[in-house]
Amino acid sequence: MMLLKAFLLSAFLHSIAYAAAIPSHDKSNAQQLADPNYGPIPGQSPMYSSYRGKAPPFPGNITAPIAPTAKGPAGIDDLVWQNLLSAEWIIFSFYQHAVEMFNTTAFVEAGYPNTTYDRIQEIRDNEAGHLRIFQNEITPTSVKPGACKYAFPFDSPASFLALATLIEISSMTFLTGLVEMAKLPASQGAMVAIATTETRHETWALLDIWKTNPFGGPADTVFPFANEILDLTNAFIVPRSCPLENPVYPSPRQNLPPFSPASSTKSIYPGSNIVLNFTDPTNQPSFREGVKYYATFFHGPSNISVPIDTTNWPRKDIEVTIPSQFEARGIIIVVVSDTIGAPTLKTVKAGPVVLLEQPAELGLTVL
Ligand SMILES: *[C@@H]1O[C@H](CO)[C@@H](O)[C@H](O)[C@H]1NC(C)=O
Ligand SMILES: *[C@@H]1O[C@H](CO)[C@@H](O)[C@H](O)[C@H]1NC(C)=O
Ligand SMILES: *[C@@H]1O[C@H](CO)[C@@H](O)[C@H](O)[C@H]1NC(C)=O
Ligand SMILES: *[C@@H]1O[C@H](CO)[C@@H](O)[C@H](O)[C@H]1NC(C)=O
Ligand SMILES: *[C@@H]1O[C@H](CO)[C@@H](O)[C@H](O)[C@H]1NC(C)=O
Repeated sequence: MMLLKAFLLSAFLHSIAYAAAIPSHDKSNAQQLADPNYGPIPGQSPMYSSYRGKAPPFPGNITAPIAPTAKGPAGIDDLVWQNLLSAEWIIFSFYQHAVEMFNTTAFVEAGYPNTTYDRIQEIRDNEAGHLRIFQNEITPTSVKPGACKYAFPFDSPASFLALATLIEISSMTFLTGLVEMAKLPASQGAMVAIATTETRHETWALLDIWKTNPFGGPADTVFPFANEILDLTNAFIVPRSCPLENPVYPSPRQNLPPFSPASSTKSIYPGSNIVLNFTDPTNQPSFREGVKYYATFFHGPSNISVPIDTTNWPRKDIEVTIPSQFEARGIIIVVVSDTIGAPTLKTVKAGPVVLLEQPAELGLTVL
Protein backbone atom coordinates (compact mmCIF):
# COMPACT_ATOMS: atom_id res chain seq x y z
CA MET A 1 0.00 0.00 0.00
CA MET A 2 3.13 2.06 -0.21
CA LEU A 3 2.49 4.42 -3.03
CA LEU A 4 -1.24 4.24 -3.00
CA LYS A 5 -1.58 7.99 -2.99
CA ALA A 6 0.69 8.43 -6.00
CA PHE A 7 -0.80 5.33 -7.58
CA LEU A 8 -4.25 6.82 -7.19
CA LEU A 9 -3.15 10.18 -8.53
CA SER A 10 -1.70 8.57 -11.63
CA ALA A 11 -4.90 6.57 -11.97
CA PHE A 12 -6.86 9.82 -12.04
CA LEU A 13 -4.47 11.30 -14.58
CA HIS A 14 -5.07 8.33 -16.82
CA SER A 15 -8.79 8.54 -16.21
CA ILE A 16 -8.98 4.98 -15.01
CA ALA A 17 -10.34 5.63 -11.56
CA TYR A 18 -13.81 4.28 -10.99
CA ALA A 19 -16.18 5.03 -8.19
CA ALA A 20 -17.89 1.95 -6.82
CA ALA A 21 -21.65 1.84 -7.13
CA ILE A 22 -23.43 3.14 -4.06
CA PRO A 23 -26.85 1.47 -4.15
CA SER A 24 -28.92 2.73 -1.25
CA HIS A 25 -28.31 5.64 1.07
CA ASP A 26 -31.84 5.26 2.37
CA LYS A 27 -31.66 5.88 6.10
CA SER A 28 -34.90 4.06 6.98
CA ASN A 29 -33.55 0.86 5.38
CA ALA A 30 -30.31 1.26 7.30
CA GLN A 31 -32.02 1.62 10.67
CA GLN A 32 -33.46 -1.91 10.41
CA LEU A 33 -29.87 -3.18 10.48
CA ALA A 34 -29.52 -2.02 14.10
CA ASP A 35 -31.15 -5.37 14.93
CA PRO A 36 -28.40 -8.02 14.63
CA ASN A 37 -31.04 -10.60 13.72
CA TYR A 38 -32.19 -8.62 10.69
CA GLY A 39 -31.09 -10.16 7.39
CA PRO A 40 -28.78 -13.11 6.72
CA ILE A 41 -26.63 -14.02 9.74
CA PRO A 42 -22.90 -14.64 9.15
CA GLY A 43 -21.95 -18.23 9.87
CA GLN A 44 -25.59 -19.31 9.49
CA SER A 45 -26.61 -18.04 6.05
CA PRO A 46 -24.76 -19.53 3.05
CA MET A 47 -25.19 -16.17 1.30
CA TYR A 48 -21.84 -14.90 2.62
CA SER A 49 -20.13 -17.67 0.61
CA SER A 50 -22.33 -18.75 -2.23
CA TYR A 51 -24.23 -15.70 -3.47
CA ARG A 52 -23.36 -15.01 -7.11
CA GLY A 53 -24.25 -11.86 -8.99
CA LYS A 54 -23.22 -8.35 -9.82
CA ALA A 55 -25.70 -6.69 -7.45
CA PRO A 56 -24.11 -6.03 -4.04
CA PRO A 57 -25.09 -8.60 -1.39
CA PHE A 58 -26.52 -7.68 2.00
CA PRO A 59 -25.50 -5.56 3.88
CA GLY A 60 -23.48 -4.00 1.03
CA ASN A 61 -26.77 -2.98 -0.59
CA ILE A 62 -27.60 -0.69 2.35
CA THR A 63 -24.86 1.89 2.68
CA ALA A 64 -26.18 4.56 5.04
CA PRO A 65 -24.77 4.76 8.57
CA ILE A 66 -26.83 3.12 11.31
CA ALA A 67 -27.67 5.59 14.07
CA PRO A 68 -27.31 4.59 17.74
CA THR A 69 -30.47 3.05 19.21
CA ALA A 70 -29.57 3.52 22.87
CA LYS A 71 -28.14 6.30 25.02
CA GLY A 72 -25.11 5.81 27.21
CA PRO A 73 -21.35 5.44 27.10
CA ALA A 74 -19.78 3.79 24.05
CA GLY A 75 -18.91 0.10 24.29
CA ILE A 76 -15.33 -0.68 25.35
CA ASP A 77 -14.19 -1.72 21.87
CA ASP A 78 -16.62 0.36 19.77
CA LEU A 79 -13.90 2.64 18.44
CA VAL A 80 -11.81 -0.28 17.21
CA TRP A 81 -14.83 -1.89 15.53
CA GLN A 82 -15.86 1.42 13.96
CA ASN A 83 -12.39 1.74 12.45
CA LEU A 84 -12.63 -1.81 11.20
CA LEU A 85 -16.10 -1.28 9.73
CA SER A 86 -14.96 1.85 7.87
CA ALA A 87 -11.98 -0.12 6.53
CA GLU A 88 -14.27 -2.97 5.55
CA TRP A 89 -16.50 -0.70 3.47
CA ILE A 90 -13.38 0.08 1.42
CA ILE A 91 -12.37 -3.57 1.06
CA PHE A 92 -15.89 -4.80 0.30
CA SER A 93 -16.35 -2.03 -2.29
CA PHE A 94 -12.99 -2.91 -3.86
CA TYR A 95 -14.15 -6.49 -4.52
CA GLN A 96 -17.70 -5.44 -5.39
CA HIS A 97 -16.31 -3.06 -7.97
CA ALA A 98 -14.22 -5.85 -9.53
CA VAL A 99 -17.25 -8.15 -9.62
CA GLU A 100 -19.20 -5.44 -11.47
CA MET A 101 -16.34 -4.62 -13.84
CA PHE A 102 -15.14 -8.09 -14.88
CA ASN A 103 -16.57 -11.51 -15.70
CA THR A 104 -15.26 -15.07 -16.08
CA THR A 105 -14.01 -14.40 -19.62
CA ALA A 106 -12.04 -11.30 -18.59
CA PHE A 107 -9.89 -13.34 -16.17
CA VAL A 108 -9.48 -16.28 -18.55
CA GLU A 109 -8.43 -13.99 -21.39
CA ALA A 110 -5.88 -12.36 -19.08
CA GLY A 111 -4.36 -15.83 -18.47
CA TYR A 112 -5.83 -16.63 -15.04
CA PRO A 113 -7.67 -19.86 -14.07
CA ASN A 114 -11.31 -20.17 -15.12
CA THR A 115 -12.31 -20.29 -11.45
CA THR A 116 -10.93 -16.81 -10.72
CA TYR A 117 -14.12 -14.77 -11.17
CA ASP A 118 -16.03 -17.26 -9.06
CA ARG A 119 -13.48 -16.99 -6.24
CA ILE A 120 -13.54 -13.19 -6.43
CA GLN A 121 -17.31 -13.29 -5.96
CA GLU A 122 -16.89 -15.60 -2.97
CA ILE A 123 -14.28 -13.30 -1.42
CA ARG A 124 -16.66 -10.39 -2.04
CA ASP A 125 -19.37 -12.36 -0.19
CA ASN A 126 -17.01 -13.05 2.74
CA GLU A 127 -16.27 -9.33 2.91
CA ALA A 128 -20.02 -8.61 3.01
CA GLY A 129 -20.14 -11.00 5.99
CA HIS A 130 -17.38 -8.96 7.63
CA LEU A 131 -19.47 -5.81 7.18
CA ARG A 132 -22.34 -7.47 9.01
CA ILE A 133 -20.13 -8.91 11.76
CA PHE A 134 -18.54 -5.51 12.43
CA GLN A 135 -21.92 -3.76 12.44
CA ASN A 136 -23.11 -6.22 15.06
CA GLU A 137 -19.95 -5.85 17.18
CA ILE A 138 -20.53 -2.10 17.61
CA THR A 139 -22.83 -1.63 20.60
CA PRO A 140 -26.20 0.20 20.27
CA THR A 141 -24.80 3.38 21.86
CA SER A 142 -22.42 4.07 18.94
CA VAL A 143 -22.99 4.90 15.28
CA LYS A 144 -22.17 2.13 12.81
CA PRO A 145 -20.33 3.91 9.96
CA GLY A 146 -21.76 3.84 6.44
CA ALA A 147 -20.05 3.70 3.05
CA CYS A 148 -18.28 6.61 1.36
CA LYS A 149 -17.55 6.87 -2.36
CA TYR A 150 -14.37 5.15 -3.40
CA ALA A 151 -11.98 5.20 -6.34
CA PHE A 152 -9.68 2.26 -6.99
CA PRO A 153 -6.61 2.38 -9.22
CA PHE A 154 -7.19 -0.72 -11.33
CA ASP A 155 -8.43 -1.13 -14.86
CA SER A 156 -7.52 -4.74 -15.70
CA PRO A 157 -7.69 -8.17 -14.09
CA ALA A 158 -3.90 -8.06 -13.57
CA SER A 159 -3.82 -4.68 -11.82
CA PHE A 160 -6.86 -5.66 -9.74
CA LEU A 161 -5.29 -8.95 -8.60
CA ALA A 162 -1.99 -7.28 -7.73
CA LEU A 163 -3.76 -4.72 -5.57
CA ALA A 164 -5.96 -7.44 -4.02
CA THR A 165 -2.84 -9.32 -2.89
CA LEU A 166 -1.47 -6.18 -1.26
CA ILE A 167 -4.82 -5.39 0.40
CA GLU A 168 -5.25 -8.92 1.81
CA ILE A 169 -1.80 -9.08 3.33
CA SER A 170 -2.10 -5.54 4.67
CA SER A 171 -5.44 -6.55 6.27
CA MET A 172 -3.75 -9.50 7.96
CA THR A 173 -1.24 -7.05 9.42
CA PHE A 174 -3.56 -4.27 10.56
CA LEU A 175 -5.64 -6.90 12.30
CA THR A 176 -2.59 -7.88 14.38
CA GLY A 177 -2.52 -4.27 15.54
CA LEU A 178 -6.26 -3.97 16.11
CA VAL A 179 -6.12 -7.09 18.29
CA GLU A 180 -3.63 -5.20 20.47
CA MET A 181 -5.94 -2.16 20.61
CA ALA A 182 -9.09 -4.14 21.49
CA LYS A 183 -9.65 -4.75 25.22
CA LEU A 184 -12.24 -7.54 25.34
CA PRO A 185 -11.00 -11.10 24.76
CA ALA A 186 -14.15 -11.76 22.71
CA SER A 187 -13.25 -8.88 20.37
CA GLN A 188 -9.72 -10.16 20.06
CA GLY A 189 -10.90 -13.67 19.21
CA ALA A 190 -13.32 -12.36 16.58
CA MET A 191 -10.54 -10.28 15.00
CA VAL A 192 -8.20 -13.27 14.80
CA ALA A 193 -10.99 -15.18 13.03
CA ILE A 194 -11.23 -12.35 10.47
CA ALA A 195 -7.44 -12.24 10.02
CA THR A 196 -7.35 -15.96 9.27
CA THR A 197 -10.12 -15.47 6.69
CA GLU A 198 -8.01 -12.84 4.92
CA THR A 199 -5.12 -15.31 5.09
CA ARG A 200 -7.19 -17.93 3.25
CA HIS A 201 -7.90 -15.37 0.52
CA GLU A 202 -4.21 -14.56 0.30
CA THR A 203 -3.23 -18.23 0.25
CA TRP A 204 -5.61 -18.90 -2.63
CA ALA A 205 -4.08 -16.03 -4.62
CA LEU A 206 -0.51 -17.21 -3.97
CA LEU A 207 -1.35 -20.74 -5.14
CA ASP A 208 -3.78 -20.23 -8.00
CA ILE A 209 -3.02 -16.75 -9.31
CA TRP A 210 0.69 -16.30 -8.65
CA LYS A 211 1.60 -20.02 -8.81
CA THR A 212 3.99 -19.65 -5.92
CA ASN A 213 4.69 -21.08 -2.48
CA PRO A 214 1.61 -20.30 -0.36
CA PHE A 215 3.49 -20.09 2.95
CA GLY A 216 4.80 -16.84 4.39
CA GLY A 217 7.34 -18.10 6.91
CA PRO A 218 6.73 -18.93 10.59
CA ALA A 219 4.84 -15.70 11.39
CA ASP A 220 3.17 -12.98 9.42
CA THR A 221 4.15 -9.44 10.28
CA VAL A 222 2.98 -7.99 13.59
CA PHE A 223 2.57 -4.21 13.56
CA PRO A 224 1.01 -2.62 16.63
CA PHE A 225 -0.01 0.73 15.09
CA ALA A 226 -2.94 -0.48 13.03
CA ASN A 227 -4.47 2.95 12.48
CA GLU A 228 -1.34 4.04 10.63
CA ILE A 229 -1.99 1.33 8.03
CA LEU A 230 -5.70 2.12 7.93
CA ASP A 231 -4.81 5.75 7.27
CA LEU A 232 -3.13 4.69 4.00
CA THR A 233 -6.50 3.43 2.74
CA ASN A 234 -7.84 6.99 2.86
CA ALA A 235 -6.21 7.21 -0.58
CA PHE A 236 -9.18 5.17 -1.89
CA ILE A 237 -11.84 7.46 -0.40
CA VAL A 238 -13.19 10.22 -2.63
CA PRO A 239 -12.53 13.35 -0.56
CA ARG A 240 -15.54 14.61 1.43
CA SER A 241 -17.75 11.73 0.23
CA CYS A 242 -18.29 10.07 3.63
CA PRO A 243 -21.61 10.33 5.49
CA LEU A 244 -21.46 13.19 8.01
CA GLU A 245 -22.48 10.80 10.81
CA ASN A 246 -19.32 8.70 10.30
CA PRO A 247 -16.55 9.17 12.86
CA VAL A 248 -13.13 10.36 11.68
CA TYR A 249 -11.38 7.48 9.93
CA PRO A 250 -9.22 6.14 11.35
CA SER A 251 -9.77 7.38 14.87
CA PRO A 252 -7.47 8.58 16.31
CA ARG A 253 -5.75 9.75 13.12
CA GLN A 254 -2.10 10.82 13.20
CA ASN A 255 -1.98 11.93 9.58
CA LEU A 256 1.74 11.16 9.35
CA PRO A 257 3.77 12.26 6.32
CA PRO A 258 3.61 9.39 3.82
CA PHE A 259 6.68 8.16 2.00
CA SER A 260 7.64 5.46 -0.44
CA PRO A 261 10.77 4.16 -2.11
CA ALA A 262 11.81 6.61 -4.86
CA SER A 263 11.04 5.80 -8.47
CA SER A 264 14.67 4.79 -9.10
CA THR A 265 14.22 1.76 -6.79
CA LYS A 266 15.44 -1.43 -8.46
CA SER A 267 14.46 -3.90 -5.76
CA ILE A 268 12.68 -3.96 -2.41
CA TYR A 269 14.28 -7.25 -1.41
CA PRO A 270 16.12 -7.49 1.93
CA GLY A 271 19.62 -6.08 1.38
CA SER A 272 18.48 -3.53 -1.23
CA ASN A 273 19.01 0.21 -0.87
CA ILE A 274 16.02 2.50 -1.04
CA VAL A 275 15.76 6.28 -1.15
CA LEU A 276 12.87 7.67 0.90
CA ASN A 277 10.55 9.88 -1.14
CA PHE A 278 8.10 11.90 0.95
CA THR A 279 5.27 11.85 -1.51
CA ASP A 280 2.79 14.42 -0.17
CA PRO A 281 4.00 17.99 -0.81
CA THR A 282 1.44 19.29 1.71
CA ASN A 283 2.53 16.88 4.46
CA GLN A 284 6.33 16.77 4.71
CA PRO A 285 8.28 15.58 7.78
CA SER A 286 10.13 18.04 10.00
CA PHE A 287 13.41 16.59 11.24
CA ARG A 288 14.80 18.32 14.30
CA GLU A 289 18.48 19.12 14.64
CA GLY A 290 20.36 16.93 17.10
CA VAL A 291 17.72 14.19 17.04
CA LYS A 292 18.71 10.77 15.70
CA TYR A 293 16.22 9.18 13.31
CA TYR A 294 15.82 5.60 12.21
CA ALA A 295 14.06 3.58 9.58
CA THR A 296 12.37 0.88 11.63
CA PHE A 297 11.53 -2.25 9.66
CA PHE A 298 8.92 -4.72 10.92
CA HIS A 299 8.89 -8.27 9.65
CA GLY A 300 7.42 -11.40 11.23
CA PRO A 301 7.41 -10.97 15.01
CA SER A 302 10.36 -8.55 15.25
CA ASN A 303 11.72 -5.20 14.09
CA ILE A 304 15.12 -3.82 13.14
CA SER A 305 16.06 -0.13 13.25
CA VAL A 306 18.64 1.34 10.87
CA PRO A 307 20.00 4.87 11.53
CA ILE A 308 19.23 7.39 8.78
CA ASP A 309 20.97 10.67 8.05
CA THR A 310 18.38 13.45 7.91
CA THR A 311 20.75 16.39 8.55
CA ASN A 312 20.88 17.71 4.99
CA TRP A 313 17.45 16.55 3.82
CA PRO A 314 15.84 17.59 1.48
CA ARG A 315 19.03 18.75 -0.28
CA LYS A 316 20.53 15.31 0.26
CA ASP A 317 18.47 12.13 -0.20
CA ILE A 318 17.77 9.86 2.74
CA GLU A 319 18.98 6.40 1.76
CA VAL A 320 18.67 3.21 3.77
CA THR A 321 19.33 -0.51 3.31
CA ILE A 322 16.46 -2.93 3.94
CA PRO A 323 17.86 -5.31 6.60
CA SER A 324 19.36 -8.28 4.80
CA GLN A 325 18.53 -10.53 7.80
CA PHE A 326 14.84 -10.56 6.89
CA GLU A 327 13.40 -13.55 5.08
CA ALA A 328 11.92 -12.41 1.74
CA ARG A 329 8.36 -13.56 2.47
CA GLY A 330 5.10 -11.85 3.29
CA ILE A 331 5.57 -8.15 3.86
CA ILE A 332 8.01 -5.75 5.47
CA ILE A 333 6.61 -2.58 7.04
CA VAL A 334 8.80 0.52 7.35
CA VAL A 335 8.33 3.66 9.41
CA VAL A 336 10.58 6.60 10.21
CA SER A 337 11.06 6.85 13.96
CA ASP A 338 12.99 8.98 16.46
CA THR A 339 13.55 5.99 18.77
CA ILE A 340 15.11 2.58 18.15
CA GLY A 341 12.30 0.02 17.79
CA ALA A 342 9.58 2.70 17.41
CA PRO A 343 8.24 1.48 20.78
CA THR A 344 5.29 3.91 21.00
CA LEU A 345 2.87 5.54 18.60
CA LYS A 346 4.40 8.97 19.22
CA THR A 347 7.87 7.84 18.18
CA VAL A 348 6.65 7.18 14.63
CA LYS A 349 7.31 10.26 12.51
CA ALA A 350 6.49 9.16 8.96
CA GLY A 351 4.99 6.27 7.04
CA PRO A 352 4.27 3.43 7.17
CA VAL A 353 5.23 1.85 3.88
CA VAL A 354 4.16 -1.70 3.06
CA LEU A 355 6.81 -3.58 1.05
CA LEU A 356 5.33 -6.67 -0.57
CA GLU A 357 7.96 -9.44 -0.71
CA GLN A 358 5.83 -12.31 -1.94
CA PRO A 359 5.27 -12.85 -4.78
CA ALA A 360 8.54 -11.06 -5.40
CA GLU A 361 7.66 -9.92 -8.90
CA LEU A 362 4.69 -7.91 -7.63
CA GLY A 363 6.63 -5.92 -5.05
CA LEU A 364 7.87 -3.24 -7.41
CA THR A 365 4.71 -3.12 -9.54
CA VAL A 366 2.53 -2.12 -6.58
CA LEU A 367 5.05 0.54 -5.48
C1 LIG B 1 -30.69 -5.87 0.48
O1 LIG B 1 -30.53 -7.29 0.41
C2 LIG B 1 -31.40 -8.01 1.27
C3 LIG B 1 -31.00 -9.48 1.23
O2 LIG B 1 -30.82 -9.94 -0.07
C4 LIG B 1 -32.84 -7.77 0.84
O3 LIG B 1 -33.72 -8.49 1.70
C5 LIG B 1 -33.13 -6.28 0.96
O4 LIG B 1 -34.43 -6.01 0.49
C6 LIG B 1 -32.13 -5.46 0.16
N1 LIG B 1 -32.35 -4.06 0.50
C7 LIG B 1 -32.24 -3.05 -0.39
C8 LIG B 1 -32.52 -1.71 0.11
O5 LIG B 1 -31.87 -3.25 -1.55
C1 LIG C 1 -17.80 -10.72 -20.43
O1 LIG C 1 -17.69 -9.33 -20.72
C2 LIG C 1 -17.36 -9.10 -22.08
C3 LIG C 1 -17.04 -7.61 -22.24
O2 LIG C 1 -18.01 -6.84 -21.59
C4 LIG C 1 -18.51 -9.59 -22.96
O3 LIG C 1 -18.20 -9.37 -24.32
C5 LIG C 1 -18.70 -11.08 -22.71
O4 LIG C 1 -19.81 -11.56 -23.42
C6 LIG C 1 -18.89 -11.37 -21.23
N1 LIG C 1 -18.83 -12.81 -21.03
C7 LIG C 1 -19.65 -13.45 -20.24
C8 LIG C 1 -19.43 -14.92 -20.09
O5 LIG C 1 -20.55 -12.88 -19.63
C1 LIG D 1 -11.47 -24.87 -16.36
O1 LIG D 1 -10.09 -25.20 -16.40
C2 LIG D 1 -9.83 -26.54 -16.04
C3 LIG D 1 -8.33 -26.74 -15.88
O2 LIG D 1 -7.61 -25.89 -16.70
C4 LIG D 1 -10.47 -27.46 -17.08
O3 LIG D 1 -10.23 -28.81 -16.75
C5 LIG D 1 -11.97 -27.20 -17.12
O4 LIG D 1 -12.57 -27.93 -18.15
C6 LIG D 1 -12.25 -25.71 -17.34
N1 LIG D 1 -13.69 -25.49 -17.17
C7 LIG D 1 -14.40 -24.76 -18.00
C8 LIG D 1 -15.86 -24.62 -17.66
O5 LIG D 1 -13.92 -24.19 -18.98
C1 LIG E 1 8.22 11.32 -5.25
O1 LIG E 1 6.81 11.28 -5.11
C2 LIG E 1 6.15 12.22 -5.93
C3 LIG E 1 4.69 12.17 -5.56
O2 LIG E 1 4.17 10.88 -5.77
C4 LIG E 1 6.40 11.89 -7.38
O3 LIG E 1 5.75 12.86 -8.20
C5 LIG E 1 7.89 11.94 -7.63
O4 LIG E 1 8.16 11.54 -8.95
C6 LIG E 1 8.61 11.00 -6.68
N1 LIG E 1 10.05 11.20 -6.84
C7 LIG E 1 10.87 10.18 -6.93
C8 LIG E 1 12.32 10.54 -7.10
O5 LIG E 1 10.51 9.03 -6.85
C1 LIG F 1 10.61 -3.44 18.35
O1 LIG F 1 11.46 -4.36 19.00
C2 LIG F 1 11.91 -3.92 20.28
C3 LIG F 1 12.94 -4.93 20.76
O2 LIG F 1 12.44 -6.21 20.76
C4 LIG F 1 10.73 -3.79 21.22
O3 LIG F 1 11.16 -3.33 22.48
C5 LIG F 1 9.75 -2.80 20.61
O4 LIG F 1 8.60 -2.70 21.41
C6 LIG F 1 9.35 -3.23 19.21
N1 LIG F 1 8.54 -2.20 18.61
C7 LIG F 1 7.24 -2.35 18.43
C8 LIG F 1 6.51 -1.17 17.86
O5 LIG F 1 6.64 -3.38 18.66
